[in-house]
Amino acid sequence: MPNFLNQIHEIKIDSQEHFKGNGVGRIEDFVVFVNGAVEGDVVNAKITESKKTYGNAQITKIVKPSPHRIVPECEVYRKCGGCSFLQIDYDFQLETKEKFLKEALQKIGKFDLKNLSIEKIVCAEEPLFYRNKIIQPVGLEDGKLISGFYKQNSHKIVDFDKCYIQPEISNKIVNLVKSWASKSKTPIYNEEKKSGVLRSIFLRINREQTEVVVCLVTKGKKLPFWKTLLQELTDNFPQVVGLVQNFNSTDGNNVLSENFNTLWGRDYIFENLGKTKFKVSIGSFFQVNSAQTVLLYNLVKEFCNLSGTEKLLDVYCGLGSIGIYLADKAEEVVGVEVSSQAIKDADFNADLNELENCDFYCGKVEEVLPQLLEQEKHFEVVIVDPPRKGLSTETIEVISDFNPEKIIYVSCNPTTLARDLRLFTEKGFSIKKITPVDLFPQTHHCEAVCLLEK
Ligand SMILES: C[S@@+](CC[C@H](N)C(=O)[O-])C[C@H]1O[C@@H](n2cnc3c(N)ncnc32)[C@H](O)[C@@H]1O
Repeated sequence: MPNFLNQIHEIKIDSQEHFKGNGVGRIEDFVVFVNGAVEGDVVNAKITESKKTYGNAQITKIVKPSPHRIVPECEVYRKCGGCSFLQIDYDFQLETKEKFLKEALQKIGKFDLKNLSIEKIVCAEEPLFYRNKIIQPVGLEDGKLISGFYKQNSHKIVDFDKCYIQPEISNKIVNLVKSWASKSKTPIYNEEKKSGVLRSIFLRINREQTEVVVCLVTKGKKLPFWKTLLQELTDNFPQVVGLVQNFNSTDGNNVLSENFNTLWGRDYIFENLGKTKFKVSIGSFFQVNSAQTVLLYNLVKEFCNLSGTEKLLDVYCGLGSIGIYLADKAEEVVGVEVSSQAIKDADFNADLNELENCDFYCGKVEEVLPQLLEQEKHFEVVIVDPPRKGLSTETIEVISDFNPEKIIYVSCNPTTLARDLRLFTEKGFSIKKITPVDLFPQTHHCEAVCLLEK
C-alpha cells in the first residue's frame, strides 16, 4: 500500500470530481483529489491525506495552467471553501456540470445516454453576486474579529471583506456588523472553549435588493448592544427591514437552531418570482439564487404542461413556492413539507397570491404521503424536490402508487437523482427529458429537472 503522505508530486489533472469539485489526477494507480485544481492543469501537489487507494492534496505550484483556468478577482479563492469553481472559466463550469449529470446517469443510474434526452444546461446571466442568503461564521484570529467561510474540510474561518457571489450590499452589511461587534467588544464564540456570544452573521436579501433581514446567531439569549447595531444599520441601510436573533446553544455543527427572536422589524422579506410574490421567513428554505429559480420554475411549468384540470402534489414544498408558482394553471395544489415555519409561510403565500386551490400539510413526506394515499387522493402530476439525499425507496413506492401521469423530479444532486430515476423506471415510468440548470455558479453543485411519464 503506497503512502504518499507529505510528499510533493507533479500531477496532471484529468477531470473534476462532483462531491467537492476538486481536480482529479493520478500517481500511477493512486488517485489524488487536488483542491482547487482544474482539468488540464499540471500541478505540483502535496499529499495531505493518504488512504489505501486515494489521497487528498493541496497545490504547491501550478506547473502548467489549464486553458480553462482563470484568475478570479476574489483575493481568498485559494483558501476559501465557499466557491470550488471560481478559478474555472464559466463555459467550462457549465460543461463540467453537464458531464457530472451524464456520468451519474450512466454510472449510477445505469442508463444508456443514447436513449435519454438531456438538454443543454440553463446558464446564469449573472454568474456572480447572486446569493440571496448568506451565513458567515465569526471568530477571532490574533485578537482580531474575522468572518468568512470555512476552509475546505475544516472549521478554520477564511476572513474576507468581499465575497464575489454575494451582492455588494450584503458584503457591506456584514462588514458593518463585523465592525460593530469589534467596537462594542461583543464576546465572540469560541468553538473549542464553547464560550462567547456571537457565532454567525446571517442575512436574507430579495432579488431587487430592497429588503434585507439581518440575523445574529448567538450562543445564549444575551446580546448586549444590539440597539447600537440597529441604529447603525438603519442609519446606513434603509433596505434593512428587520433585526433578528437566533439562539443556538448547541455545540454541534448545526449553524442555526429553531429559536428565532425578532429584536426589531420583521423576520421575513418579500420576494417576487415572475408574477408570484412570496413571504420568505428568515428560517424557511428558499432557493439561494432567485434569478435562476425563475428559470428553474419555468422549466417545471413547461414540463408539467398543465391544462387547468390537474391535481398537483408538490412534495418537499418548502414555503409552497413551486406549487404556488403553478397554481393558476392547476385545479388543486397539495404541498407537503416538514418545517412548520415554511408551512406557515406557504399558507400565507397562497393568500398573498389570492389562491384558493392550495392546501399544505406539515409533516414528514414519509408519513404524510401514505396517509394521502390511504384517503384515496389522486394526483395527475407529482413534483418532488427533495434534499440532497434524494428519495427513500418507500417514498418512490408511494409516489408510484398514486399512479400519476407525470412526475417532475427537481434535484440538487445528480447522484441521488440517477439512483432514484432508475427506481422510477422500474415502476413503469419513462424519462422524457432532463435539463440541468446552473443554480449555483462558481460552485460544483448541479441542479436538474427531469420529466417522467407513464
Ligand atoms: C430542496 S428544498 C425544496 C423546497 C421547495 N420545493 C423550493 O423550491 O424552495 C427541500 C425541502 O424539503 C424539506 N424536507 C426535508 N426533509 C423532509 C421530509 N422528510 N419531509 C418533508 N419535508 C422535508 C426541507 O425543509 C426543504 O424545505
